[in-house]
Amino acid sequence: MNKLTLIQPDDWHLHVRNGAILKTVIAHTAKQFARAIIMPNLNPPVLTVGQAMDYRSEIMQALPANSNFNPLMTLYLTNRLTEDEVKKASKSEYVHAIKLYPAGATTNSDSGVNDFKDIYPILETMEKVDLPLLIHGEVTGNDCDIFDREKVFVESSLNDIVKRFPNLRIVVEHVTTKEAVDFVLTASDKIAATITPQHLMFNRNAILAGGIRPHHYCLPIIKREHHRKALVEAAISGNPKFFLGTDSAPHLTGAKESSCGCAGCYSAYGAIELYAEVFEQAGALDKLEGFASLYGADFYQLTRNIKTITLQKQNWTVPASYQVDDKTITPLKSSEVIGWKLAS
Ligand code: DOR
Ligand code: ZN
Repeated sequence: MNKLTLIQPDDWHLHVRNGAILKTVIAHTAKQFARAIIMPNLNPPVLTVGQAMDYRSEIMQALPANSNFNPLMTLYLTNRLTEDEVKKASKSEYVHAIKLYPAGATTNSDSGVNDFKDIYPILETMEKVDLPLLIHGEVTGNDCDIFDREKVFVESSLNDIVKRFPNLRIVVEHVTTKEAVDFVLTASDKIAATITPQHLMFNRNAILAGGIRPHHYCLPIIKREHHRKALVEAAISGNPKFFLGTDSAPHLTGAKESSCGCAGCYSAYGAIELYAEVFEQAGALDKLEGFASLYGADFYQLTRNIKTITLQKQNWTVPASYQVDDKTITPLKSSEVIGWKLAS
């Protein structure tokens, strides 16, 4: 197959930051995707519907002229979130979900939640008003090995939340393990998951074998090969519980190439092309449209996109870096070749 036309995809998990980084990265997303769920882990975080509206305006202003891209906003769940704010969010046509970070799990998650019991009243309200909960599914703390943090979270906290709030729609974000995939598969149809390109493409050797590669470091950390295979199986299964969420998370090159480098892979520049390569290698290009363009919209109860995009089988070399003022962002697969290209 040399050409692939798809209903325009959406990105159900995206970080765009603000300021100069926003300006660079939002153009990359908007040239492929119709919509994206915008993560609220700014510094300071997006806590209220008012703040989400301000952030949305900033994103709209940073978009290239004539773009039809629609940013779907989220709130950051802290102990300070009120039931009134949840109700307000559920009535807003711009706010689509609330994101739960365990405190300290990842970039800008200091305001996250320490004890989930504290937020049960909020989850109950979300369940009532049918507002989806997006979960960064990792336990924190140094008593748990970093490669086990998702698995332990699934066994402990996630199981409990799902049992307690059976009608709450939940997206287990960026699943990275067979255990998380199996959990989602056996859970009710209220439970879905996003999968990133890096977790489909790489196993942990890509971070550590032959030298430390900071641009492959993200959280949850990339796992062993048998987990990668389970993720590919889930993505190409045609099961609507699994859909596209890049978790594209731009950091300046210097912040990643550091003695204590930040977590996050920048993939938005060519996300749909990266996924196309994965699906092609798995012999499942026919399953890409469901994963990338249909199932996420259905889960979020939004209309499916109508326009299409076309990908061509064509090699192109990823730039070494993207400019942000006088600094750079180094993309995932920097200076490497991708075999599919978005037709302009
Ligand atoms: O690797 C990550 N980077 N994982 C996250 O959960 C957050 C993200 C970021 O915001 O940089
Ligand atoms: Zn993320």
